[in-house]
Amino acid sequence: MEIRILNGKTIAAEAGKSIYKTLKDNGVYLVSSCGGKGVCGKCRVKLIEGSARIESTGKLLKKEIEEKFALACKTIPEGDVLIEVPEESKLIIGDKIALSKTKDLLEYLRAIDPALTPTVRKIVLKLTPPSIQDNTGDLERLKRALGEKGIHDMVFSHAFILAMPKALRGAAWDVCLSYTEKHEAIGLSAVCKAHHYGVAVDIGTTTVVVYVVNCADGTLVDAGMTYNSQMRYGDDVITRIVYATEGGGLQDLRNAIVNDVNDLLAPIIEKNGIDVEDIDSAVISGNTTMTQLFWGLDPASIREEPYIPTVNNYPVWRAGTARLKINSQAPVYTMSNVGSYVGGDIVAGVLASKMYKNPEVALFMDIGTNGEIAVGNNDWMMTAACSMGPCFEGSGIRHGMRATEGAVESVKIDLSSFEPSLGVVGNTTPSGICGSGMIDAISELFLSGAIDQKGKLRRDLGTDRIRTGEEGPEFVLYRGERKDIVLTEVDIENVIRAKAALYAGVSVLLKEVGLSLDIVERIYIAGGFGNYLNVDKAIMIGMLPDLPKEKFAFIGNTSIAGAYLCLLSGQMRREAEEIASKMTYMELSVSRGFMDEYMSALFLPHTDIGLFPSVKGLYKK
Ligand code: FES
Repeated sequence: MEIRILNGKTIAAEAGKSIYKTLKDNGVYLVSSCGGKGVCGKCRVKLIEGSARIESTGKLLKKEIEEKFALACKTIPEGDVLIEVPEESKLIIGDKIALSKTKDLLEYLRAIDPALTPTVRKIVLKLTPPSIQDNTGDLERLKRALGEKGIHDMVFSHAFILAMPKALRGAAWDVCLSYTEKHEAIGLSAVCKAHHYGVAVDIGTTTVVVYVVNCADGTLVDAGMTYNSQMRYGDDVITRIVYATEGGGLQDLRNAIVNDVNDLLAPIIEKNGIDVEDIDSAVISGNTTMTQLFWGLDPASIREEPYIPTVNNYPVWRAGTARLKINSQAPVYTMSNVGSYVGGDIVAGVLASKMYKNPEVALFMDIGTNGEIAVGNNDWMMTAACSMGPCFEGSGIRHGMRATEGAVESVKIDLSSFEPSLGVVGNTTPSGICGSGMIDAISELFLSGAIDQKGKLRRDLGTDRIRTGEEGPEFVLYRGERKDIVLTEVDIENVIRAKAALYAGVSVLLKEVGLSLDIVERIYIAGGFGNYLNVDKAIMIGMLPDLPKEKFAFIGNTSIAGAYLCLLSGQMRREAEEIASKMTYMELSVSRGFMDEYMSALFLPHTDIGLFPSVKGLYKK
């Protein structure tokens, strides 16, 4: 039995396996926001030839079913089939790599830690060769040479001692010893090479970014980015925890992420002619679940009350334990977590933003599937996470997609004719709408009076852009030959819920410390989404607080920036640990105040328009 993909591969199909699973097992990935449960409707394929058992048609429209579209995860071939995979169902990585400004970071680093202090140090030792008269053991001989340099507390592992005799003799007793900052010996070589490298890794729920850095001078050698392959098992953290715990898939998830990192590293290593053994340190940054999965730790307790992670402050384990394909003895430093829902990526972000160094009160927001917020200054810091849902990444939105080619990323709606003009990533035919496009569209619809404060579309405007679709009222953003791109009332509700969660999180955190918004001097917006966000529009819908535009700063992927800083500096690692221990975590899911704030924020821009003075009077009633 075979599955033939139109203009693509032919894959052997196993009886009883869904098209989605067969494709996935053969390296063809489909968008699967629900992890293959048949509820998100994102894995649509067209069944051109052959017969198949269709277990559910989930979110498919009547018209789509007539056109022979099926959910790949709920369709099981009953013989040879020919399918077409539409563009929007394919999982594709965008071509933009979120390179932080490493030059600026390096300058900053040089100012506070001029020597650069990666986790690995090197020392040249000249040992007296053994003789009949001096029959001291190899290890004791090495310790003696170290003692002469004032180092008396070196720790030696079994693996190190196994390799030691050969290395000492091979180098004629004139050796370069590599050791960690905690004084654990990790390797011996004949010479201390001028160059050695480190790897900074940001494991995002959606994307993985790797920096390869020259640890001798701090320069960025190369970088790579890919989708987190764990997405095969679900888009969000909770679906993956369920897969790890109830589906027995912990090893699948671990292998997926470790392979992603290794697959990113391999071409960089080859292209830059780097000896794998010379990559002798690594730093991992990610949310609490991502780092636990990276290390193969069962994430079950993260999801169960009282929501406790297995580790907040990770021991420094070795690359061999992590299965990273670099020097197996390389220490792997993991950014400390604050708690189950505020992880090392946020600690890295706060570190990179430098907000913990200044007396002015700043707000840090990392906007993704989860909205993580931190507020504070050099004296105190509070943090919380609010679940925004994956709508800004395209899930749960009728024509939602990530900000890749074909995504509507900006929308302008004529105030009298309601005709939209669209900005599309890659200037091509639109195939869906991404987060920034949704925010734009909703703010424009609101501004023009096409939707009311509750996000309901008005039907009495005399425009055919507003119509009733299979899921209820919708606004037609684009009329296509094959399909129209619409924003439904249900989509608008989803976005309103997400923005309300973020705004309520900020309000509750500030209230908890007895401060009001005007005390906030700076707002740092991190995360991939931040790169495309239009502040005015986000304020218009009540997602961001109504503060002067100049207070907002987009700081990109701060998780990788923080990892980079910690890769190169012991002081940065200490400061990151201090940030993690200093942050007071607030669990919003059990906060009564949060629910009240959330309910008030379920309007455009807010029930209390007084909180949005710049929006007041702008929109048509
Ligand atoms: S409906 Fe198939 S992956 Fe969600």
